[in-house]
Amino acid sequence: MARKLGVIVLAAGEGKRMHSPVAKVLHPVCGRPMLDRVLDAAAGLTPGETVVVVSPLRPEVKTHAEGRGFRTEIQKRPLGTGDAVRAGLAGLRTADDILVVCGDTPLLDTGTLREFVRFHHSSEAAISVLTANVESPTGYGRVIRGPGGDVERIAEEKDATRDEKAVREINSGVYVFGRKDLARWIAGLRPANSQNEYYLTDTVGLARGEHSRIAAWKIETAARVKGVNTQAERREAEAWLYEWTIGKLMAAGVVVDAGVSPRVDPEAAVAPGAELGSGVEIRSGSVVGKGTRIDTGSIIESSSVGAGTHIKPYSVLSGSEVGKECEIGPFARLRPGSRIGDGCKIGNFVETKKSVFGKGSKASHLAYIGDAKIGKNVNLGCGTITCNYDGYQKHETVIGDDVFIGSDSQLVAPVTVGRGAYVASGSTITENVPADALAIARSRQAVKPGRAKALRKRLSAGTRPRKAKK
Ligand code: UD1
Ligand code: CA
Repeated sequence: MARKLGVIVLAAGEGKRMHSPVAKVLHPVCGRPMLDRVLDAAAGLTPGETVVVVSPLRPEVKTHAEGRGFRTEIQKRPLGTGDAVRAGLAGLRTADDILVVCGDTPLLDTGTLREFVRFHHSSEAAISVLTANVESPTGYGRVIRGPGGDVERIAEEKDATRDEKAVREINSGVYVFGRKDLARWIAGLRPANSQNEYYLTDTVGLARGEHSRIAAWKIETAARVKGVNTQAERREAEAWLYEWTIGKLMAAGVVVDAGVSPRVDPEAAVAPGAELGSGVEIRSGSVVGKGTRIDTGSIIESSSVGAGTHIKPYSVLSGSEVGKECEIGPFARLRPGSRIGDGCKIGNFVETKKSVFGKGSKASHLAYIGDAKIGKNVNLGCGTITCNYDGYQKHETVIGDDVFIGSDSQLVAPVTVGRGAYVASGSTITENVPADALAIARSRQAVKPGRAKALRKRLSAGTRPRKAKK
């Protein structure tokens, strides 16, 4: 029978080196908490069971992991990675083999873990360690090999001799153990080191003492096992993942402008043939269709953009859907619940919120459209404002197909403008307008021939204008 896999994710460290009120493993890397990236990578193996080891000092980590449906175990005090695994073991019931991963290794992916577990099975070793050769090994445990090349032990940075520190093969903190062996070795750990901690890495020395075989699998792409202990390392990890994502997109046919590299979260979908301008951000959960152009400095967050649409510079879309062949921006802001139909135009300095635009409708300049249903082929003139909020509640504006709203008009909601109606510029619409009607809601203009001259004369002499007669 196949051996059952269990996963222990270590996330109970203090994260002191981050100097942050935010728990280390909840710091984001490319829009997702580090811990989630590790959990996702492990979940891709569909292990029989997974337990996340958490600290009582960081209840938000426990809440987060449980919120994602993972089992947690509390490590009462941060006595080291060996002690954390002891806590984790208590939560595993069925596993024969145990994959241990650290919650601060956010670049791990399922492919790497799958290959590593496969390697462990074929090696028939008691412990398999995932290692990498790195340029600057400072901070990592060093893999110490004997004359025959076998792994003998792992030397932690703080306990390593000068010769050991020169070793560039590092321990990634990812291992597979047989469960029974692991439990025995963990019980045998002693905190006899500079940090007075129970080091998980000492299990390697203990196994060696029992003449058990230790196998090391050295990964080619060392970045995949990068550990994050400091803010600078978090940023390096993020930079690598953004770069990797852009490389993958370009390989698939996405056009990327030179300049400031776009930041595309790995979970965003960008179709081949889409063009990304300088400094663009496409965040998790967004979908960008083929033949679209997202121009300089625009941010697309939890939004979809249809094929052939042009998002002009410095537009910000969140929680919105934009159809095909639209023109959005420059400087447009689409807030959550905006659903823009095909062929629409949302121009500069237009803000939309929770509003539906039918096919071919336009708001080309300076407008606020909130809580509105706009039909097809509607023209909202410059300066159109839906007055949707009375200080207590939000109200809806409904505008039928083929309506023309003249510039500088306010629509005081709740209000309906029927299909084909025409609202004159500068109107304040407070009552419903029937279909095909012309609505004018502004004061009449008075024209006084020749009076401009007289007015100027008086003003230049400093005389105050006469008061209007009662
Ligand atoms: C650890 C390894 C080191 C390896 C490196 C890889 C040990 C002793 N050292 O060092 O060999 O090269 O990871 O990145 O294992 N944690 C707990 N409880 C604790 C202590 C830590 O849950 O009491 C968790 C942390 O949240 C973290 C992980 O274990 O996710 C690793 O701990 P950390 O303190 O970051 O170890 P490193 O110094 O990076
Ligand atoms: Ca670490």
